Formats: sequence, C-alpha cells, structure tokens
Amino acid sequence: MRDMEGRVAIVTGGAGGIGSATARRLVERGVRVVVADRDEAGARRVADEIQAACGEAEGMFVDVTDEASVNALVDAAVARFSRLDIMFNNAGVFGDGARNFLDDPPEEYFRVVSINQHGVFYGMRAAARHMRQAGTGGVIINTASIYAFIADRNQLPYHASKAAVVAMTKAAALDLARYNIRVVAVAPGMVNTGLVDNWRQDERVWNTIQRAHMRRRMAEPDEIARVVAFLASDDARFINGHAICVDDGALSFKR
Ligand SMILES: NC(=O)c1ccc[n+]([C@@H]2O[C@H](COP(=O)([O-])OP(=O)(O)OC[C@H]3O[C@@H](n4cnc5c(N)ncnc54)[C@H](O)[C@@H]3O)[C@@H](O)[C@H]2O)c1
Repeated sequence: MRDMEGRVAIVTGGAGGIGSATARRLVERGVRVVVADRDEAGARRVADEIQAACGEAEGMFVDVTDEASVNALVDAAVARFSRLDIMFNNAGVFGDGARNFLDDPPEEYFRVVSINQHGVFYGMRAAARHMRQAGTGGVIINTASIYAFIADRNQLPYHASKAAVVAMTKAAALDLARYNIRVVAVAPGMVNTGLVDNWRQDERVWNTIQRAHMRRRMAEPDEIARVVAFLASDDARFINGHAICVDDGALSFKR
C-alpha cells in the first residue's frame, strides 16, 4: 500500500527499535525517510538497509537535546528531499531506575528531561516552522509512553518527561491547527527494543514486564510502527491532540 507516495518524513531515534521499524513501515507506504539519530552510524545503517530494499532513505546525525542540531536536521532533510510532511519525534531514553529520586543527583533528572521532553519540543518547533512557511500542513507524531499516566518505582524523571510529551502534544495541536498541522502522540506499553536490555537477564523482572499486558507479552517494535504509520496517514486525518495507547490493555486492568 503506497498511499503516502511522495511524502517526506523525519524519524528521530531512527537507529533504535521503534524508530527503525517505523522508518521501514513509512517507506513501505511510499514515504521518503530521513533516519536521524545521535548514533549516526546506526542511522546510516538503517537507511542503507532501506535503500538496499529499493526504498528512499537517508541517515543523518541529530542530537535532539540541541536546538541548533534539530534545526539543522530539518534544513538538511528539506534540502535532500525538497519537503517535509511527517515529523516523528521519537528519540528517548529510560532513567537508569537504580535509585529513588531522593538519592539520584539532579543531573539524572535533567538528562532524561532534556532528551525526552526538550527533544520533542525542539522537534515540533523546527518541523512546524518549516510546515508553516511551506503552507503544506503536515503531521507531527511524538513518542510518549503509558508511563505518562501511571508510575513505576525509581522512574520519576521518565514519568515527568513523558507526561510533558502528552501535554505538549495537546497544546501544540491547538496552536498549530490554524496551519493544518496535526499533532498526535503514541503511548506504547513495553516494547522489545534496546531500551529494555537492562531487564533481559533477570527472569523474574522480565516475566513481570510481560504480565503487565493483557496477553502477557510486550510489543514488538513493528506493532508500534504500524500505529505510527496509520497516525501519519490520511486515514487518521481527524485524530488530533491525543495520545494513542498501544499497550495491549496494560492501562486498563489491575495487576
Ligand atoms: N521500549 C519500550 O518499552 C518503550 C515504551 C514506551 C515508550 N518508549 C519510547 O520509545 C522511544 C524509542 O525508544 P526504543 O524503545 O525504540 O529504544 P531504543 O533505545 O532502541 O531507541 C532510542 C533511540 O534514541 C536515540 N537517542 C537517544 N538520545 C538521543 C539524542 N539525544 N539525540 C538523538 N537520538 C537519541 C538512541 O541512540 C536510540 O537509537 C523512546 O522515546 C522511548 O521512551 C519505549
């Protein structure tokens, strides 16, 4: 299905699990994709794989904590593909989860917030400024988490950053509606990516994570990517200002 033929997307965190799966899904639907990550070699690898499968993609460096870097990414994407229709602000990290926030240095809070929250803010600004100037409208999709809505132990910075992503999604959707730019968020449950590597070796923790979902398994990255591609498409044209949970009901039952 090449229903988005000719459109151009930027995917941040594109070297990672959800980002790379989404880049592939978008390409399959006809989108030309800039795969962007602070892991530049990883981003180029994903783009090379897409090109080898006859898709159009380019790997680029971005550090989403740096507004100048995000602005340069949008400029480079537009220079390469002549337009920008879809911005997927997806780069993110977990906190290390080792300590209560009382015992963590404040730097840990600032580290997580600067990537997960400020990165989304810079990404929305850079993309929307371009879309406003081009007069083309567009779609911005931000990666939140079910942990925007519920708490787990020792993850205060992560919860704060993802709740901010949901709030910014609503506020930006309202402010950008006049430019025909939709802003939505995807809020995954746990997903089988490098982000959960810390817990793979501990069988008890790993099983607990699986059981957090109604069908007792976490998502594969492509199960999130499919929803992101849907949100980017015209089929989702009346979805705006919401965070869509993709969590196999994790938020809907008591464990
Ligand atoms: N895996 C999960 O269980 C899960 C659940 C809910 C939400 N999420 C969110 O999904 C998003 C993608 O994570 P993932 O699971 O694919 O993990 P991942 O670690 O596979 O991918 C994250 C990517 O973000 C990149 N990144 C980190 N900091 C960056 C920066 N400053 N600038 C540019 N790139 C940077 C990393 O290099 C990595 O490639 C994150 O926002 C994460 O919070 C993940």
